[in-house]
Amino acid sequence: MRDAAPATIYLKDYVPFGYLVDEVHLTFDLAPNATLVTSRIAFRPNPDTDNRDFRLNGEGLSLRWAKIDGQDWKPHVRDGILSATPPNPETPFVWEAQVEINPEANTALEGLYLSNGMYCTQCEAEGFRKITYYPDRPDVMSTFTVRINGPHPVLLSNGNPGASGEGFAEWHDPWPKPAYLFALVAGDLVAHSDRFTTVSGREVDLNLWVRPGDEGKCAFGMEALKKSMRWDEEVYGREYDLDAFNIVAVDDFNMGAMENKGLNIFNSAAVLASPETSTDDNFERIEAIIAHEYFHNWTGNRITCRDWFQLCLKEGLTVFRDAQFTSDLRSAPVKRIRDVIELRARQFPEDQGPLSHPVRPESFQEINNFYTATVYEKGAEVIGMLKRLVGDAAYAEALDLYFARHDGQACTIEDWLKVFEDVTGRDLAQFKRWYSQAGTPRVKVEEDWQDGTYTLTLSQVTPPTPGQPDKLPQVIPIALGLLGPNGDEVQPTQILEFTRAQQSFTFEGLAARPVPSILREFSAPVVLERETSPAERAFLLAHDTDPFNRWEAGRTLAEECLLTMITEGAAPDADYLNGLLAVLRDETLDPAYRALMLGLPSQSELAATLHRRGVTPNPQAIWDATETLRQSTAQHLHDLLPRLRAETQVDQPFAPDAAQSGKRALGGAALALLTRLDGGAQATDDYGRADNMTLQLSALSCLLKAGKGQAELAAFYDQWRHDRLVIDKWFGLQVGLASPDKVVETARALTGHPDFNWKNPNRFRALFGPLAMHHAGFHFAGGAAYELLADWLIRLDPVNPQTTARMCSAFQTWRRYDADRQALIAVQLDRILAQPGLSRDTTEMLTRIKG
Ligand code: PHE
Ligand code: ZN
Repeated sequence: MRDAAPATIYLKDYVPFGYLVDEVHLTFDLAPNATLVTSRIAFRPNPDTDNRDFRLNGEGLSLRWAKIDGQDWKPHVRDGILSATPPNPETPFVWEAQVEINPEANTALEGLYLSNGMYCTQCEAEGFRKITYYPDRPDVMSTFTVRINGPHPVLLSNGNPGASGEGFAEWHDPWPKPAYLFALVAGDLVAHSDRFTTVSGREVDLNLWVRPGDEGKCAFGMEALKKSMRWDEEVYGREYDLDAFNIVAVDDFNMGAMENKGLNIFNSAAVLASPETSTDDNFERIEAIIAHEYFHNWTGNRITCRDWFQLCLKEGLTVFRDAQFTSDLRSAPVKRIRDVIELRARQFPEDQGPLSHPVRPESFQEINNFYTATVYEKGAEVIGMLKRLVGDAAYAEALDLYFARHDGQACTIEDWLKVFEDVTGRDLAQFKRWYSQAGTPRVKVEEDWQDGTYTLTLSQVTPPTPGQPDKLPQVIPIALGLLGPNGDEVQPTQILEFTRAQQSFTFEGLAARPVPSILREFSAPVVLERETSPAERAFLLAHDTDPFNRWEAGRTLAEECLLTMITEGAAPDADYLNGLLAVLRDETLDPAYRALMLGLPSQSELAATLHRRGVTPNPQAIWDATETLRQSTAQHLHDLLPRLRAETQVDQPFAPDAAQSGKRALGGAALALLTRLDGGAQATDDYGRADNMTLQLSALSCLLKAGKGQAELAAFYDQWRHDRLVIDKWFGLQVGLASPDKVVETARALTGHPDFNWKNPNRFRALFGPLAMHHAGFHFAGGAAYELLADWLIRLDPVNPQTTARMCSAFQTWRRYDADRQALIAVQLDRILAQPGLSRDTTEMLTRIKG
C-alpha cells in the first residue's frame, strides 16, 4: 500500500549510490505466473561517497532467499525498498537473491509481462525493480550476463549471444549499462534478418523479430535501420558496438519504442509497415522512430543520464538527431514545418497550462509523467538553438568532445553545456535558463524606419508557470532576413542574439523600408506577437525566400482570417484565398510543401490564441468558422482542384518516399476540398480504386467527413478485421471524423464493439485519442465527452496507470474555457481523484491539472 500523499523527489537531493556494481548475472526460469529470477551481483564501495546505505529497489517481488557472500541473509523490506547492512561495507561483496514474479498478472506493461503469449520487458524508467532487487537508478552501471531458461523458440536479451540450446540461451552485454536498458524477450517469433558492415568492418547481424504472420511488414523497418546506422557513422562519427542488433515488435506497449541496449523493443505500430496497411505518415514516423531508438545507442546508452531529472539529456538530443536524419533523407523544410505544427499542437499547450514544467524538471512524484513533449520536443528545440548560436562547426566539435569525454558515464545537463563552453569559450549561464525556466516566451516586435535606417525592437516576456512566478530573459536566437519592396532579399538570414528583456537591432543603408522575415526556420520555440496587415503577410507568402516563413505567412494569414471570422463574424479574407491560390498554382513548389500550405491551424490552437488575447473560446464557433473557411477555399480553388489531382497522380510502383508521399498528400488535400463540392462522387470512385492504405484512408476520410461512406466503412472493416493496426485506424477514423454533436455517441457505441480490447494501449488510444483531439466534439455543450473519458480513465487506471495518466492531459487546457465547461470538467477531475487506490501516476497528473 502506498501512503496517502505520494513522496516528491527533488533534483537538489541527488546523492550518489554508496556502491558500484561490477557485474550482474541474472537467470530467468520463465513461467507465466511464477517466473523465478535469480541474481548474483558484485558490489564494491563507491569511492566518491562515504554513504554506505545498502538499499535496493523492488516492487511486487516475492523474495525466496537472499545471500551476502554466500551467507543467508534476511533483509528488511518495506515500501519497495530492501535495506541491509553488508557485514563489511568497505570491501567488495556479492549479493545473491531469488525472487518470484508473475508476468501474466502484469497489465501495467512495466517490468516483465506477457503480450500475446510472448514475454517482454519494459524497464525505463523504473521497471527493473519489478524484475529483481537492484539499485534501480541510471547512475549505477554494470555489465550484464543473462541466462534464460524457457521452452520458447526465441530467447533474447541484451548484448552478444552466448551459448544456447534446447530450452535455454545466454547473453552477455559487455557495455556497462543502467538497469533501465535491460531487456528480455521470449516467444514464438520469426526474424526478418539482414547484415550491416560498420565503417571499421564489424559485421553486425540485424534481426527484426515479429509474430508469425507479420513477416511481410518488416522490410521497410530493416531498411530504415540500415540507413540510420550509416547516417550516424557519416554525420556523427558513431559506430555500432555489438555483433547483433535485435528489434522486437510487441502489440502491448505503453509508448512508441524503447532503446534497450542491442535489443530495441517496439510497439508494433511503430515498426510494422506495408503499403497496403500503412499510410505515408506511418512510414515516415516508423523511419524516424527506428532512427531515434538506434541513435540512443550513443546518446542515451553509451552516455546515459545521471538521474531522471536529466532525461532531456538523452531525449532532447536524440529527437534532435532523428529530426536531422529525416531532414537529410526527405525534405528539410517539410520536416521543419511538420515539427513546428506538432510542437504547437502538443508542447505549447503543455508549456502554457497547468502541466508546464522546465525541460529539466526539478521535482516529480512519478517519473513516467515526465516523458513529455516539453522534455522531448522542446528539449530538441533547445539543442537546435544551441547549434544556431555556436554554428555548425562548433556544434560538431562539441559533440565530438561530448562523446570522447563522457563515453561510459552517466551525465548531467551541466556536463553537456560544459563541452560547448569548452569548445567555444562562450558562457552559457544565461542559455541554461532554457533548461530551468518553464513556459513559452512571448516575443513582441516593433519596427521603425527613418532616413534609411531600419530598427527592429524586440521585447520578451515569459508568463508565470506553476512554481515559477517570475522569469528572467532568455537567450533567443532570432533568424532574420529582410526583403525589399520588389520581394528581393536585401539582407540574407542572420542570427540576432536576443538576450535582454528589450533590445533593438538596426540595419543601415537600405534604399527602401524592408519587410522583415522574422524567426526563420522557427529559430526559437517562442510565440511571436506582431501586428501586421494581411497585405504584408500576403507579400511574405508570395516572396519569402525562407520556406518555413513562407509557410508561416500563409498560416498566420489563415489564423487571423479565422479569428476575425470567429470574433467579428467576418467573411473569409480575400488575401488569404488569393495568396493560397497563387502558391498552389506554382508547380515548381514541392507538392508536400503545397499540401502543408493547405493546412489550417487546429481548432485547439485557435482556442489557445483567443485565450491568450483575453477572449473565451467557443468551440462550436471555432468549428463553424473552420468549416466555412474550408468551404470557401474549396469554391475559390474550384478550377485548380482537378489539375492538382492530375498533377499528383503516381504512375510508378508504390514507394513511401518523400516524392510520392508528397504527391499523395497534395492529392488527398485536393480530394478533401473537392468532396465539399461534388458530394463525394470522386471520393467514392477513389475508394474503389485505392491500392494502398494512404489512398484508401484518404478517400474513406473524405466520405465520412461528408456524412457518407457507411458502406465503405463496413467494407473496410471486413477487409481488415484481422489486422489489428488497421482496425486501430478504423476506430479512430469514426470518432475523429464525426460531427461535433455525434462524437460522444459514436465513441460510446464503439466502446461496446467486440474488438474494443481496451487493455491494449493502442486500441484504447485509438478511440479516446481522437475523442480528446476532436475540439468541438470533446467540448460539446453538456460535457458528455468529459464524462465518457473520465469513466474509462477510472476503469483503466487500476490496469495500466501509465497510459491512464498520459490520457489525463486531455483536460490540461480546461482553464481556457467558459465557467460552465470548467465546472463540468472539475466534476470529472474530482470524480477520478476520489477513486480509492488511484495510482500515483494519475493522482499526480490530475492534481497538477487542477492547479
Ligand atoms: N526511451 C524511449 C524513447 O524515447 C521512450 C520510453 C520511455 C519507452 C519509457 C518506454 C518507457 O525513445
Ligand atoms: Zn528516446
